[in-house]
Amino acid sequence: MNDEHLPRPMATYRLAVLPGDGTGREVMREALRILSVFEENSPASFEIKEIPCGGQYYLETGEEWPKGSFEYCRDESDAILLGAIGWPDARLPNGDMAGGQTILGLRSGLELYANVRPVKLYPGVTHKVHGVHKQVWDPDLVDIIMIRENTEGLYHSLLRRMEQRALGKKDEPIVIEEFPGLDGEVAWDPRPISREGSERVIRFAFDYAKHRQRKTGKSQSVTCVDKSNVTRGCQLFRKIFREFAENNQDIAVKEAYIDAFTMWLVRNPEDLDVVVLPNMFGDIATDLASVLQGGMGMSASANMGPKHMLFEPVHGSSPKHAGKNVVNPIAMIQSVQMMFEALAFRKKDQNLDLCAEILQSAIQKHFEEGGIVTYDLGGPASTSEVGEAIASRCESMLQERFP
Ligand code: IPM
Ligand code: MN
Repeated sequence: MNDEHLPRPMATYRLAVLPGDGTGREVMREALRILSVFEENSPASFEIKEIPCGGQYYLETGEEWPKGSFEYCRDESDAILLGAIGWPDARLPNGDMAGGQTILGLRSGLELYANVRPVKLYPGVTHKVHGVHKQVWDPDLVDIIMIRENTEGLYHSLLRRMEQRALGKKDEPIVIEEFPGLDGEVAWDPRPISREGSERVIRFAFDYAKHRQRKTGKSQSVTCVDKSNVTRGCQLFRKIFREFAENNQDIAVKEAYIDAFTMWLVRNPEDLDVVVLPNMFGDIATDLASVLQGGMGMSASANMGPKHMLFEPVHGSSPKHAGKNVVNPIAMIQSVQMMFEALAFRKKDQNLDLCAEILQSAIQKHFEEGGIVTYDLGGPASTSEVGEAIASRCESMLQERFP
């Protein structure tokens, strides 16, 4: 090899690694395996700080994570990797989920306003519409980027409480109001939707569509999903969406109410490219959408903010499978892939971009060539066997590229 083709040295990325609860810990082991293969076989270098956290940690220690963890994520990491948060019966004295200050505190406290959740069906993977894997679809039918608003809406009060706790402050008092026409005990969650919060996530969606248009050469649309026939917040959301549509004539736009959208999503996923949704609608619609790509074991995500980024599988801690080494690590590994891509983009790092491509193609080839899969995809393989298979593909590709 000629000298001018030798890779330039790459920066060291500081990663906060939060395995969390249950199967989150098992899939995180596979993420770390992948990272070490890239570390050993490419100029990529990672400084990893593992932070225990979650409901199980709370039950053991009475804390959701060690003091200073939020500040570490905020001030001393380039990216955050999270396994899963949530454990049965792990509740704070006020009834909120224990561990919430990790995921929800970080989303709110680091302004991770765009939750990017790709819904992509890989060749060789079958969808799960009937609960079992049998029917093969054309992968071109399912290639969607769902972008969920991540800091307000129905989550607003919980997010704020968790942000306060993550910063070591006391809970804000619960405000009780009276509702005309309702008697007896009433519980309610306000659902504020702001212009600023909507603008930033809708701008992100249009920018993403343009980026994808440039990268793939395929024209892209942005679909706005809301309930603007009923709620004020959604009326504002859609009004702002239309302002962006007006100013981005090169991007096709579509609109849908969330109820009709769920049917549309399942029936004609090929109509959708980039989709932008308010917080709770995005939470629900992305779980639904995962059946189009083989289930929750396949859905990865990136939580993006102006300065920070956090990557996590969409699935939870799955207590019933925990400790058995059986769950699918692909959602976690794909989240690492999204992290490579996002860090490469933000830090303009071509070597890391190449690593992102290599990891992407290792995952793609694994499925195309009928690689081993876990039970949820109809196979007999364990979590670690799938992790090893992807890691060894990466290793050979890396050795070719960075001999
Ligand atoms: C998700 C999860 C979280 C959410 C939970 C764990 C609070 O369901 O990331 O989709 O509701 O956002
Ligand atoms: Mn969810």
